[in-house]
Amino acid sequence: MRSQTLECFYLLFLLALFFSFHSATSKSHLQLKRGASLSVDDASDFLTSPDNSFTCGFHNLGSSNAYWFAVWFTNSKDKTAVWMANRDRPVNSHGSEVHIRGDGTMILTDVDGTVVWQTNTTTTDVAIAKVLNSGNLVLENPQGDILWQSFDFPTDTLLPFQTFTKNKRLTSALRKGSYESGYFNLNFGSDNVLRLISDTPDTSSNYWPNPDFDVYTNGRTNYNSSRVAFLDDMGRFLSSDRLQINASDMGYGIKRRMTIDFDGNLRIYSLMNSTGLWEITWQALLQPCSVLGAVRKKCNMCLCTGSSVCMSSWIRGE
Ligand SMILES: *[C@@H]1O[C@H](CO)[C@@H](O)[C@H](O)[C@H]1NC(C)=O
Ligand SMILES: *[C@@H]1O[C@H](CO)[C@@H](O)[C@H](O)[C@H]1NC(C)=O
Ligand SMILES: *[C@@H]1O[C@H](CO)[C@@H](O)[C@H](O)[C@H]1NC(C)=O
Ligand SMILES: *[C@@H]1O[C@H](CO)[C@@H](O)[C@H](O)[C@H]1NC(C)=O
Repeated sequence: MRSQTLECFYLLFLLALFFSFHSATSKSHLQLKRGASLSVDDASDFLTSPDNSFTCGFHNLGSSNAYWFAVWFTNSKDKTAVWMANRDRPVNSHGSEVHIRGDGTMILTDVDGTVVWQTNTTTTDVAIAKVLNSGNLVLENPQGDILWQSFDFPTDTLLPFQTFTKNKRLTSALRKGSYESGYFNLNFGSDNVLRLISDTPDTSSNYWPNPDFDVYTNGRTNYNSSRVAFLDDMGRFLSSDRLQINASDMGYGIKRRMTIDFDGNLRIYSLMNSTGLWEITWQALLQPCSVLGAVRKKCNMCLCTGSSVCMSSWIRGE
């Protein structure tokens, strides 16, 4: 009788232990299996990279009711997003979810069931989603082959070893504190040169490298048609048009990102361990200059190209 009671207690204890472990580990996942979901309603329902550098899940701005499915730097103070599924179409703070469907497609649905975003993977070979230590959200088959990756669909940010190729572009946010697509882009031109371009409703213009100079004066070349660029883990950015950039804190062990900001400038940032804040360690355009003439009434800033000529690039007032 006595040993039975003991056995019973022991079993209960084990069960309690199992459930406490289960609930402690069921929130922050290393992977999401086909058929499983992440819900916006559970603020702790995330995917994290094995080294915890990156988190993937529902991201919001301040106290707004709008959520984005995103990957962000876990240790940055403002949870800086490096990729977003739905930058132009946020979802509701209740009832939205990301689900890997039985057919292998990862989908983001809003509260009413509308599919807001989906991957181009319709193969039951998709087994799991996970976030790599590089910040790349991937869908893998059981053998570990990558079938889809967020690195192929950049928003405004390039991470170390995220290859930037001819069909990709980085697009700025429309204004400070917004994620909506803006007017400034980074991409390779048809002449093989990596450029910053402003595409406003009225005009389209190149503003970096300096459009007043020829390609060689700007330190570039146009003969290499491979059109590929990347940031390495030392803070060097190398492009097939011979552009080479060194972050001012060049060296290993620092978390960096290259972002086209809402003001149209392209910058490399380094994360400060102690504060979780970002430091600018390189930027394409150095001096902001005075506002152009009366034509641009909505303009509150323009960009210099390094020469005294002011380009027609402008941002909307906040
Ligand atoms: C999905 O898109 C990526 C990137 O554009 C492409 O490489 C891949 O072939 C596409 N997959 C399918 C199944 O269409
Ligand atoms: C073109 O650029 C690629 C990538 O940077 C490089 O590997 C290749 O050697 C370059 N080709 C020439 C002819 O410079
Ligand atoms: C960047 O640093 C390398 C050394 O690692 C140097 O050879 C190169 O000239 C530097 N480039 C620039 C643009 O400062
Ligand atoms: C930040 O922390 C990492 C590892 O924790 C370390 O390797 C790196 O040197 C630190 N960077 C700075 C700038 O303190």
